[in-house]
Parts: sequence; C-alpha cells; structure tokens
Amino acid sequence: MKIAVLTGGGDCPGLNAVIRSVVRKGTQDYGFTFVGLRDGWLGALHDSVLPLGIAEVRGILPRGGTILGSSRTNPLKHDDAVRRIRDTLDAHQVDALIVIGGEDTLGAATELSRQGIKLVGVPKTIDNDVAGTDYTFGFDTAVGIATEAIDRLHTTAESHMRTLVVEVMGRHSGWIALHAGVAGGANVILVPERPFDIDQVCAWVKSRFEINYAPIVVAAEGAVPKEGQMILKDRSVDEYGHVRLSGIGEWLAQEIEGRTGTEARTTVLGHVQRGGTPSAFDRWLATRYGLHAVDAVKDGDFGTMVALRGTDIVRIPLDETRGRTKVVDPSLYDEFGVFFG
Ligand code: F6P
Repeated sequence: MKIAVLTGGGDCPGLNAVIRSVVRKGTQDYGFTFVGLRDGWLGALHDSVLPLGIAEVRGILPRGGTILGSSRTNPLKHDDAVRRIRDTLDAHQVDALIVIGGEDTLGAATELSRQGIKLVGVPKTIDNDVAGTDYTFGFDTAVGIATEAIDRLHTTAESHMRTLVVEVMGRHSGWIALHAGVAGGANVILVPERPFDIDQVCAWVKSRFEINYAPIVVAAEGAVPKEGQMILKDRSVDEYGHVRLSGIGEWLAQEIEGRTGTEARTTVLGHVQRGGTPSAFDRWLATRYGLHAVDAVKDGDFGTMVALRGTDIVRIPLDETRGRTKVVDPSLYDEFGVFFG
C-alpha cells in the first residue's frame, strides 16, 4: 500500500513527529511506502510530491515546522479539485492519504472523503480548538512559550510599575490565553468567547496599582470588547470569511493609559508561539497520533480522525469535527475567578 501525507494550515510544533511515526510504523510494521505532498492541499492540486521514507524522517522528531511545507490552500475553492487530487494520487499510485491539519484542512478532508477520496485525519493546531479531541499537539508548546514570556514580563512590569499587555494567538478560542495566563499568574485574562468590558479592565488595573502591583493583562488575539466599546476600524475578513481584528493588545494598552493615567506597553508574541522545538508532551501526542493514523489506514477505516479522549487515542468520524470550533467552556473560564467583563 502507498500512502501520501500532507500537512495543511498554520504550522505547529509536532508536525514532524507525526510524519516520522507514520513513516516508521507504516514502513517497518506493514511494509507501506510513502510520498509527501508539498505545501498541504497545494501539492495535491498541482502534483507536487516529495520522497518520504525512513531516510527523510531521520532526526526530525525535535524539529519544529514541517518537512513537507504547509499552506492555507482550500482545495474546495479550486475548480475541479476532486479530479485534480485524484489525478495526483493516481499518478503516484497512492492508495490513501493522511491529512494532518486544523479546522480548515480537516473540513476540506471531510468533504473530499465524502466524495470518495480515501483518507484519515490527524488534528493539529497550537490553538487547541479542533472539535472532537481533548488536545491537539502544538498547544502545549505554545502555552509553554507564552508562560515563559509572562514570567519574564512580570519582572520588567514591576521595575517600571507599568501594565504589560501580552497578546497571544487564538482567533476563535482562548485556550492559549487561559492556560498561559493562569500558569503565568496574569491578573486579567481576555478570551474571544467572552466579550470584555474595558471599564472593568481599567478598574481592575487601577486597583492593582493601588496595592503597588504592576498588572499583567493576557489577551487572546481574538478577544473583543463589548458592543459599542471599540471602533472596529482595523477589522478585516480573511480568506475563510473569519473576521479578524488587528491589534487588540495595542488597543488595550492605549485605553489603559488613557483611562487610568498609568503607563502601559504591549508585547505581541505572534509566531514565536508556533516556531521551534516541540515540548515532550507534544512529541508524545504527535507520535501516538501518527501510529494510530497508520493503523486506521491499514484497517481501511477512512473518513475518520484520530483523537485524544482522556488518555486514549480513538477514531471518530471526520464529520463530527466539521464546522465546529472547540471553544473555552464558560464554566472553566469562571473556575479561576479571573477577571471577565
Ligand atoms: O491557527 C493557528 C494560528 O497560529 C492562529 O492562532 C493565528 O491566528 C493564525 O494561525 C495565524 O495565521 P497566519 O500564520 O497565517 O498569519
């Protein structure tokens, strides 16, 4: 059996660990052969393939990024996508696909599977927002990086008695903000799931200064103030129709300065959270996902996605994840008694 592997969407630490375990198990246990599709669905549409064997995956376990390249190409937006993908797979005698991706990549996989392409999905994203799985790999690494940044920001905030706003990734969900904010001892944690009240944020910041404490505000990039509190001049819609606000961190610092008369600065962590070596947990999870994905292909269990439930890796229908974002549960957010608007 020959399997093609692709990685789609934003990269994240652990992608190479999945590729490695897929290839090693598939080759050594089942005698499968592999090819890589370059740059996600783009490679499938344009017949751009890479050799993928034991030699290619040697030494890649601790490496961030993806040796296959990635893109946000949505094949369903291209004419004749199913035929073109089939042609690529046929040209290389590929029997099945392993698709490693987040919401958008797996959404396309769901549709292509319905149209008869044999594939198995593996969930990834630093955002941890893929429905159907308890955790995605990449998340733990991102939380570690953001936590370390918050630890460092505490000391400089205290030295200058300033508010430091830390903007972390998370367009649709506040998992990174919540986990890193709690782990780093932030004073205010703002997530997209709960529009915040800027007056309350400022009141909280002021009360921290009154007890001689320099506050740390952690905001997910998708956090938004309540209706009417912000002129959304920096609002744009991305290629998937998602509304994106640029610069919530900067906006918060400006508002805090203007309303409290105290100094504030912003640190936008950005892609630092996605780069570099995966944590031990992400290597563990990614490796297990890879092993189980190969087993699913061997069993002919197509149209499924491997998922973590508790400590078990299970297979679920890809359909269960499509169009659903796993957001932070309000009761979990409230559990910490952190500030919310
Ligand atoms: O989906 C992962 C993610 O890192 C989000 O947290 C972030 O909003 C987005 O990707 C950034 O995408 P890009 O690298 O394409 O700008």
